[in-house]
Amino acid sequence: MAVGIFDSGLGGLTVLDAIQRRLPDLPLVYYGDNAHAPYGVRTPDDIYRLTTAGVQVLFDRGCDLVVLACNTAAAAALRRMQEGWVPPGKRVLGVFVPLIEALTERQWGDNSPPREVAAKHVALFATPATVASRAFQRELAFRAIGVDVEAQACAGVVDAIEEGDLILAEALVRSHVEALLRKMPRPDAAVLGCTHYPLVASAFREALGPDVRLFGQADLVAQSLADYLARRPQFVGGGAGTVYLTSGNPRQVSDRAVQFLRRPISFDPA
Ligand code: DGL
Repeated sequence: MAVGIFDSGLGGLTVLDAIQRRLPDLPLVYYGDNAHAPYGVRTPDDIYRLTTAGVQVLFDRGCDLVVLACNTAAAAALRRMQEGWVPPGKRVLGVFVPLIEALTERQWGDNSPPREVAAKHVALFATPATVASRAFQRELAFRAIGVDVEAQACAGVVDAIEEGDLILAEALVRSHVEALLRKMPRPDAAVLGCTHYPLVASAFREALGPDVRLFGQADLVAQSLADYLARRPQFVGGGAGTVYLTSGNPRQVSDRAVQFLRRPISFDPA
């Protein structure tokens, strides 16, 4: 029943929104673990514990396929989950690979050796835990050579977004971009490596200037999910519409979701 979408909080809604636009008839269950956000300042063990608990909620709701719409969870927990935790018949997908395939100009399933690509200087903006994991650099190294990655841990941005304080979030984005540009003055591509960041994409765009190619994940993940379901239609599931669940305060989370997506969204307790 339904495809599950998991995030630590509101950021996964950027991915959900793109999936709904691409696959309007796909039944979905969204679960935001807002009570425990942000994940990006937690230890890998803590993130693993919270992520497995969150994905279990979606399995218990009948989802056979869950998208981790959270880089922090994907970076810190996904491999460990896939190696020993995900039960037979269930699947958990991350958000890194579609992004890195786009950055390295690869089609799905192209496992040829790493090669030179157009992007040479890549700025990565992500949470402290994602940056510390080096998961992005590891996945990139499988596919590309000669790419210089400079990562900026964007402390505070997710907290500000979860609080609904976009003024603070945008001010923090500007200071993180300035810090990155001091280390790498001329990036040719920038990756928004946290699903919360598209909610302040215009601040990244303005601070980086028009010449930097900006890569977000929402549309790429939606496209990759559409391809995945075309190959494995048994994971589409039944049901209708979208169910929104949170571990936080449903009213407050619904208000923020409406503020960000500008359409009626109502969360229920998980
Ligand atoms: N949206 C999550 C991500 O993509 C945010 C993590 C957090 O809660 O800090 O990394």
